[in-house]
This record gives sequence, structure tokens and C-alpha cells, in this order.
Amino acid sequence: MDKIKIYTTANRLAWNEAMPLHQKANKSKWDDLFSVPGYSVIREPELSHIRSLNLKGKKIAHLCCNNGVELMSLINMGARKGIGFDISDVAIAEANQRAKKFDSNCQFVQSDVYEIPKAFNGAFDIVYLSIGCLGWLPDLKPLFKKALALLNVSGVIFIHESHPFAEMLPADDRKDVNPLQIIEPYFKAEPYIESDGIDYIGNTSYKSEPMYWFVWTLSDIFNSLIKIGFRLEHFSEYPEDISTQHKRTEEAQAGIPLSYILIARKQVALE
Ligand SMILES: C[S@@+](CC[C@H](N)C(=O)[O-])C[C@H]1O[C@@H](n2cnc3c(N)ncnc32)[C@H](O)[C@@H]1O
Repeated sequence: MDKIKIYTTANRLAWNEAMPLHQKANKSKWDDLFSVPGYSVIREPELSHIRSLNLKGKKIAHLCCNNGVELMSLINMGARKGIGFDISDVAIAEANQRAKKFDSNCQFVQSDVYEIPKAFNGAFDIVYLSIGCLGWLPDLKPLFKKALALLNVSGVIFIHESHPFAEMLPADDRKDVNPLQIIEPYFKAEPYIESDGIDYIGNTSYKSEPMYWFVWTLSDIFNSLIKIGFRLEHFSEYPEDISTQHKRTEEAQAGIPLSYILIARKQVALE
């Protein structure tokens, strides 16, 4: 097995283990919310940037889509069609079930993002990634190469993510530490190996399968995108925590960047 596959196989097990707990806590909540026609989870500041992409008629690939609620929201906001890809079999089953229930024009496919079939190449106007995805992925260049291949000519990649600055600060469960104190390095070549469960929805504590979390600096992200063939069109940083792990830092209002939005456009076609 190559190195990427070792990490993603472990992360798949961990996500399949966590999803039933997430579902216990919020599956019926999502069903209730989507029973309201046009429901969307997309909020400011993301909302304005998504609107700037003029979703009407657009086809979207959502990478690391989890249970699909963001993609269903983008369809409700006017996108023509969506396909979500996620490595967790359990998340994909939930997403397909809900899309069918509410007749949403999207479909969800279980796949490692590095292994999305070539049949999907060139099929999308937008590749979308949001909240807590990049850290699970062991290599950015093949990720962005895949994103570039999925896009049609001049398509865009849209990323709404936690800021790498937040990776240096203590998560909210470290109540013994000042939330503004830097406790981890910004530059971290090796992944964190975690075994504290990831039920950040239902807050159940459990020892999980080992999983791997990668810290990407802004230069890792920018340089990988540029080298693969994207042109950066927009980048903005925000003091809002979107991870739900750094609410104490956000509340301290210390002017620390905790999230960002990035839009980059396909420059060259590969192959
Ligand atoms: C934090 S969730 C994304 C959450 C989503 N933005 C939301 O709010 O529901 C991260 C997702 O990435 C998926 N994932 C992790 N590694 C992956 C990989 N190699 N390929 C595809 N999906 C992956 C996990 O299964 C999980 O559903």
C-alpha cells in the first residue's frame, strides 16, 4: 500500500466508526430542516462568496462531502446538479438517503478523493471543499490535481476552511490552557496521530481507531494550487471559528485568523 493509502484507509475506518454517533445526534434534525423547501446551511461570510459564483445552472463536485447537507444546500441555492464524494460509506449512505427523500438533484459517491474515477473528469464548474477537509488529506498536490481534472475549462475551486493559525492554539477541551497561547508549531511535517474519538456532534467520548491529521500552512496551500495550474482569484481571512474547536479563542476577540475562504480558477488543462 502506498503511503497516502495507508493514511486514508485508517481515516476511513475512523469516520465510519464516528458517523453512527453523529447520526444519532443530528440525522433527524437535518431531515426536519431540509423538509423546509429551499433550506440552506450556508451562512455569511461564505454566502456572499458563493453567490458571487452565480450558481444557477452550475454543476458542483463536493469533495469530503460527509452527510451531504452543504451540497444539498447549494442545490437549493440554484445549482443545477451536484455530486458529493466522501470516503465514509456511512456518511454517503445517509447523504443519498436524504437526497432521495427530498428529491434533491444530487448524488453521493463513496470514494477516496485521490481515487475519484476519471469518468467524472471535466464534468464540473465548481469543486467545493468546506470545513474540516484538508486536514484529513495526506498530500495536497494530488488533491488539487484531481480537482483540476474534475473541472471543465475555467472552472473554479472554492475552499472554506479553518485557518492553519488555529492549529497552533489549544482546542476548547484544553480548559487548563489560555486559548490565546501558542502550544503547537505552525510548521509540522508529520501528521498528528489521534485516537480521541471525533464525535464533536453528540459529544460522546470514546477511543477511536487511529486516525491521521495533517497541518497545511498557507504557503503549502497556495504553492500547491499554483503549481498544479490554478490562478488565485480570492483569499480572505476571518476571526470566526468554523471548526467548533476554538470557540474560546473566537470569544476572546483577539484579532486572530480562525477561518478563510479561497477561490482559484483553472488555468491549464492537464492531459
Ligand atoms: C469534518 S468532515 C467534513 C464536514 C463537512 N464539511 C460537514 O460540515 O459536514 C470531513 C469528511 O472528510 C471525509 N474524508 C476524510 N478523508 C477523506 C478522503 N481521503 N477522501 C474522501 N473523503 C475523506 C470524512 O469521511 C468526513 O466525512
